[in-house]
Amino acid sequence: MQAMRYHEFGAADVMRLEEVPRPEPQAGEVLVRVVAAGVLPADWKLRKGLFPMPVRFPVIPGTAFAGIVEETAPGVTDFRPGQAVFGRSPNGTYAEFAAVPAEAIAAKPPGIGFEEAAAVSGGATTAWRAIMDGEVKPGDRVLIHGAAGGVGLFAVQFAKWKGAHVVGTAGPANLDFIRSLGADAAVDYTAEPFENAAQDVDFVLDTIGGKTLERSWTVVKRGGALITITGRPPIEKGLETGVRIIKPSLASGDDLAAIAGLLEQGIVRAIVQRSYPLGEARLAQEQSESGHGRGRIVLRISEA
Ligand SMILES: NC(=O)c1ccc[n+]([C@@H]2O[C@H](COP(=O)([O-])OP(=O)(O)OC[C@H]3O[C@@H](n4cnc5c(N)ncnc54)[C@H](OP(=O)(O)O)[C@@H]3O)[C@@H](O)[C@H]2O)c1
Repeated sequence: MQAMRYHEFGAADVMRLEEVPRPEPQAGEVLVRVVAAGVLPADWKLRKGLFPMPVRFPVIPGTAFAGIVEETAPGVTDFRPGQAVFGRSPNGTYAEFAAVPAEAIAAKPPGIGFEEAAAVSGGATTAWRAIMDGEVKPGDRVLIHGAAGGVGLFAVQFAKWKGAHVVGTAGPANLDFIRSLGADAAVDYTAEPFENAAQDVDFVLDTIGGKTLERSWTVVKRGGALITITGRPPIEKGLETGVRIIKPSLASGDDLAAIAGLLEQGIVRAIVQRSYPLGEARLAQEQSESGHGRGRIVLRISEA
């Protein structure tokens, strides 16, 4: 099969399209023909060697995908060949096929395209866990930083679905977009301090880090909660300020199925920013690395 791979850390041009053996699914795994793969910031961060974890080269990048079950290994009872699925794989998804643990996938909602479904893992799943772990409830005041991004756009929609009052931050080109997702207030981070629009909030989701995170402490009320997904949970600062620091948790197959239900009912929508062919994964990752844009970049790898 064809797969994008890299054999060392480096810039986007370490990635090469190579002919590699098709993976053999192990017990409990499903072999999926990948139709579309999500391009996550984590993909280029791993390629640049920015994560403190051991890496075995060569690496096939990518975790998020949507595709069609090709075969199932022993121990898999919930899926069958020909079924459309989506979710995450630890084994690389910038490839024509991926071996995927059955517990990390769910049936793709029939009304949702493969590219949209590939935008769910690492985007909707992260936002879902944040809103659930933050126990967002009706009437809460919620601040979502990076509200137009792959995570933030789902966080706005989930928080609205929970009945919260949502303030989102984005650049000038994305303000109408985040309002269209349901945000009650949209703050242009290039023009106005978010502190003007958000005070005494119950919950902050920080997808930006740095100064944005530092300034966020002053707008959360005592007893409120903060989740940052850009680095180590700032436990000490939480103790100092009386803000509950919640560590992001991993989504399960049940979470995926719940998200699939909301997508299918049209209560939330996935947004694809741009789709590239597999051979242009370098361009796709470079675009992701810019840190700006609206929705998820995806790779279109095969036809459904
Ligand atoms: N730990 C985890 O579980 C986890 C999971 C997923 C993601 N993450 C991390 O979370 C971060 C965001 O991920 P993502 O997938 O949402 O990224 P993304 O899709 O690349 O979105 C980035 C968004 O940030 C906005 N932005 C840039 N600077 C901003 C600022 N100063 N204030 C407000 N918004 C700003 C951009 O909007 P404009 O174009 O309008 O500037 C863009 O829409 C990444 O660092 C990623 O690695 C962590």
